[in-house]
Amino acid sequence: WTSLDFQTILKWTVEESEHTYTVMYSENTEQTNPRKRENLGKIFCLHRNYEADIRADSDHLADKFGLDYDFPHTYAPMFNPYKESNISALEFSITDVDEGTVILNITHPLTSITVGGKQQTIKDILKNDLKYKIIYSKSGSTGEKYKIADSSSAEVSGLDAGQSYCFMVAAFIPSRPKATQLGAWSTQQCRRGDTHFTQDLSLGAWVGIIFILITVIIVFITTTILCCRRNHKRHKNIQTAESSAPI
Ligand SMILES: *[C@@H]1O[C@H](CO)[C@@H](O)[C@H](O)[C@H]1NC(C)=O
Ligand SMILES: *[C@@H]1O[C@H](CO)[C@@H](O)[C@H](O)[C@H]1NC(C)=O
Repeated sequence: WTSLDFQTILKWTVEESEHTYTVMYSENTEQTNPRKRENLGKIFCLHRNYEADIRADSDHLADKFGLDYDFPHTYAPMFNPYKESNISALEFSITDVDEGTVILNITHPLTSITVGGKQQTIKDILKNDLKYKIIYSKSGSTGEKYKIADSSSAEVSGLDAGQSYCFMVAAFIPSRPKATQLGAWSTQQCRRGDTHFTQDLSLGAWVGIIFILITVIIVFITTTILCCRRNHKRHKNIQTAESSAPI
């Protein structure tokens, strides 16, 4: 079984490819009445446990060994879409509330399931079972903080004023078994720190800034001295010119 955002696919591998296949599947563990595959998608119910038995059918094998032949087959493990489908990465935007607080506005991936013509999001399907795990860290620091949010409009407070922070979000479904609770992590998004930008500068940047400052000061002093000397000279020249002017 592979399943992403409740779209579930049953795959199998074969040694010989001339077969056709019959997928018999049953809901729950009691194998009551395996049905031949008609359209798995239409009658698939997210909340049930499914087991499948994939059988290779082939006229060639039937001709050779008769209809009583025990066709090669394999069992797929039990699968529960609601509990085991992987959840893809979420998208979100960051809004500043005040210096120490932001709101992450999380949007939900669409599934291939439609209800009344409307394509359902993972939130429509998981409803209140869907929570959000947020990881955030001050940029440049390795210390990460976690937060679990109930709402897709998740507030993160207690941030250091003016610091730049980076955030990642994933769907989190605590009602599921541990192994399938967490969806894929989103890409990282950062809030730009503003007022205290100097705290984020590396040593290299500081050396650069000091170097530039010293250069500017030297250039300033040198040009000042040169200008003063030249002005002084010109002043003298004017004076001599004036003194020798005919009266
Ligand atoms: C979910 O994703 C993991 C990691 O990519 C993968 O190993 C697993 O088979 C997937 N499960 C399903 C049901 O698709
Ligand atoms: C969250 O984002 C969605 C889509 O980008 C937008 O329609 C909605 O208004 C936003 N909500 C808030 C509270 O900003």
